[in-house]
Amino acid sequence: MKLTDNADLRPYNSFGVAARAACLAEIEHGDELETAVAMAEQRGLPMLLLGGGTNVLFAGDFPGLVLLMRNRGIEIDRESGLVKAAAGENWHELVRTCLEGGLYGLENLALIPGSAGAAPVQNIGAYGVELEGFFVELDLFDCADGAGRKLSRADCGFAYRDSVLKRPRAKPRVVTALRLQLSPEPAPQFAYPALERELAGAGEVTPENVFDAVCRIRRRKLPDPAVLGNAGSFFKNPVISEAAWEELCRRHDSPPHFPVSQGVKLPAGWLLERCGFRGHTRGDAAVHSEHALVLVNRGQTTGRELYELAWEMRRRVLDDFGIELEPEVRIIGAEEPAGRGGG
Ligand code: EPU
Repeated sequence: MKLTDNADLRPYNSFGVAARAACLAEIEHGDELETAVAMAEQRGLPMLLLGGGTNVLFAGDFPGLVLLMRNRGIEIDRESGLVKAAAGENWHELVRTCLEGGLYGLENLALIPGSAGAAPVQNIGAYGVELEGFFVELDLFDCADGAGRKLSRADCGFAYRDSVLKRPRAKPRVVTALRLQLSPEPAPQFAYPALERELAGAGEVTPENVFDAVCRIRRRKLPDPAVLGNAGSFFKNPVISEAAWEELCRRHDSPPHFPVSQGVKLPAGWLLERCGFRGHTRGDAAVHSEHALVLVNRGQTTGRELYELAWEMRRRVLDDFGIELEPEVRIIGAEEPAGRGGG
């Protein structure tokens, strides 16, 4: 385990904003967690678990211990289709390894930044597929009592970009490994409109060309965090009632939408573009020119400035459409501005 006091968190958040933690522990083996937690308790430090740092905004410093899982290992059983991955593996490398190993299903989730251990926390999803569909169970270490536990799919309470692991806890539950059930038989899924368009004319669709097509779309629309700091979609896509949807249709020509069981899901990117935010800049805090749902750090912005921009966007969508956007990104080190209402 590597411990760093007064750690610079800039390399550990994909927005690339400056922030500091009282201490940072890089955990290479699950059994080091016990020592790290004991140290935090002795020093009276709160704890924060960071995956790849690709879905977090540090609006301020974190006055405690940041835990970073660095454990490695992927085991593939081609016959049964079962895959076990250590939490510290890179998600995209896991997707690629499974595909190259002849196990299929994760192709649509290619190029999602972050670690394997973070994937179940927000039930990552893209192009018509969610992690939940392959999930078997995970191993976790509970910092509250030092116990190791397994969570099944039912225990995880998966929903759209959500699971029980996303609920804030004073002492985090650290995912150390996950098991997925994939298929040795190709079963490409490409009904998502943008993916279907990308594959049109490609002839027979294979998992390999779904993987390539997803990578091409993402590279085109979403900035590479290594080049332009960002955390993907900043907000979740909101679900509105049928009545609100009909009202919206009276005021706008055929808004894009997806029917869901509780109403109608709208792309937050569309709402934000209508409010004029695509390409909007506020110093180095900005909205991506290709996608209004993606906030970017154009160089030297602070987490606080990005946070303020996000709240300006949220307020405008509420004023113009009466719809409340809920952040998808976890925000650390800031109180939400007063009077924002529930989210
Ligand atoms: N749109 C606009 N303007 C914009 C952006 C989008 O009008 O600036 C409209 C377009 O009509 C477009 C529609 O929104 O067709 C949907 O856009 P897109 O296909 O990019 O998907 P999204 O709903 O914005 C979601 C996920 C992404 C995921 C894509 C593809 C959420 C919050 N985001 O985005 O996930 O990659 O679908 O499946 O659900 C992430 O979670 O960080 C992420 C990038």
